[in-house]
Amino acid sequence: MKEVNKICCIGAGYVGGPTMSVIASQCPEITVTVVDINQTRIDQWNDEDLDNLPVYEPGLKEIVGEARGKNLFFSTDVDKAIDEAEIIFISVNTPTKTYGKGKGQAADLKFVELCARNIAKVAKTDKIVVEKSTLPVRTASAIKSILENTGNGVNFEILSNPEFLAEGTAVEDLLKADRVLIGGDDTPSGQEAKDTLSSIYEHWLPKERILQTNVWSSELSKLVANAFLAQRVSSINAISALCERTDANVAEVSRAIGTDSRIGPKFLNASVGFGGSCFQKDILNLVYISRSFGLTEVADYWEQVIIMNDYQKRRFAENIISTLYNTVSGKKIVFFGWAFKKDTNDTRESAAINIADALLEEKAEIVVYDPKVSEKQIYADLDYLGTRSPEENKALLTVVTDPIDAVKDAHAVAILTEWDEFKSYPWDAIFEKMLKPAFVFDGRRILDKEKMESIGFQYYKIGQS
Ligand code: NAD
Ligand code: UDX
Repeated sequence: MKEVNKICCIGAGYVGGPTMSVIASQCPEITVTVVDINQTRIDQWNDEDLDNLPVYEPGLKEIVGEARGKNLFFSTDVDKAIDEAEIIFISVNTPTKTYGKGKGQAADLKFVELCARNIAKVAKTDKIVVEKSTLPVRTASAIKSILENTGNGVNFEILSNPEFLAEGTAVEDLLKADRVLIGGDDTPSGQEAKDTLSSIYEHWLPKERILQTNVWSSELSKLVANAFLAQRVSSINAISALCERTDANVAEVSRAIGTDSRIGPKFLNASVGFGGSCFQKDILNLVYISRSFGLTEVADYWEQVIIMNDYQKRRFAENIISTLYNTVSGKKIVFFGWAFKKDTNDTRESAAINIADALLEEKAEIVVYDPKVSEKQIYADLDYLGTRSPEENKALLTVVTDPIDAVKDAHAVAILTEWDEFKSYPWDAIFEKMLKPAFVFDGRRILDKEKMESIGFQYYKIGQS
């Protein structure tokens, strides 16, 4: 096992930032440098005001505040950090390809390849290179091939160490990880590299929770874990549609099946549809890989998880339109929440984006309030869809900072994110301010149906008739 003094992480995003902050806080003897080509992002990580960090996660600013400037550094000097580190984590984005072969399904690995080429160019001493990004099976061989052909005599060990943190609970997930997965070669140097990386996590996790596998199992396990989790959400969402047509209540069904220890209680909350930067991308990737091996049935099976998710989002928007007497044109609909889940400022693939888009197509007037998402981000998300011009989006949708003020003369409120604060809002006062009949469409099942109806609302809750 090698002694580790310096590590670096390329990519200061939702994974690189929190993961390295936790490593720095748990390993005070190791200097951790997080680098990124995005100057604005690095400036935000270095901002004196910890409320301006680019990633919002409960508990993160406290950890960054403690370690930053001591053994945690954020920088744009990528080459220097690579040169000095014994271990280099690659934690750059791997979005779905938007062009060429595999467009719309395969992972775009251009950022990962750029990192590998940069490491190959700069490294003068032996390095352990760790794939932290989620990568399709067998990416390590591509990285290896780039690194092995540098001709500068440096030995590289490539490890796969996928990240399982979920946004909104990143710090807790990292500190109390169910497991850490390390994939690497079975050669003596591969084993030494795996043990070296393991020694970092052993600072705070029991050794039994650190699983070692071969590289391919590790890469594939990450895609499969996300596919299984998303499949649970799509499964319960499919049942939510059935509950709405019958007298069944999806929460009761979730509880009834979840108490079977073989099924388990987690990830059975019916919702407006899953979002986030990972589920859709990773399943599409699994579908693409399966199809490219000629496994049509396998590909179709996993693709259905996404088809069901698209259906759930569409269903929610269509229900708003049909309930509001088949027209939302000119009607004010207030969105509570834009982030893809609570406790994060991330909006990637958030269901709110598609639902807003569908309602804007019907000429609704949308007002959005989210406690952590900026106005700029909300417009960027909508404009990215390209359904209408940025000017039209600006004319039809408004972003506000006062949710209670926003409901004045509104026809409906739609709850798109399960932020805790929404539960304690003065719903009586909200009712008074709205036009009557006052509708609430609860896409996150956070409010009490009886209470809302007793106030006077026409209240719709996903998965309940
Ligand atoms: P992100 O977009 O938040 O961050 C990626 C960062 O990498 C960006 O700041 C970008 O500027 C930087 N970058 C890109 N190319 C670079 C280069 N050549 N040199 C230096 N910096 C570069 O992405 P993320 O959400 O942190 O995800 C990173 C990876 O982790 C992805 O593969 C993702 O699938 C995986 N992952 C994400 C999550 C999650 O919850 N977000 C969880 C587990 C795994
Ligand atoms: C996911 C994985 O959970 C994590 O392990 C992986 O590393 C990255 O991808 P994340 O996308 O951050 O994490 O959040 P997650 O908690 O998994 O939620 C994903 C989406 O599913 C959210 O939109 C959430 O609201 C939705 N969801 C989750 C439900 O609709 N119902 C549930 O019961 C659980």
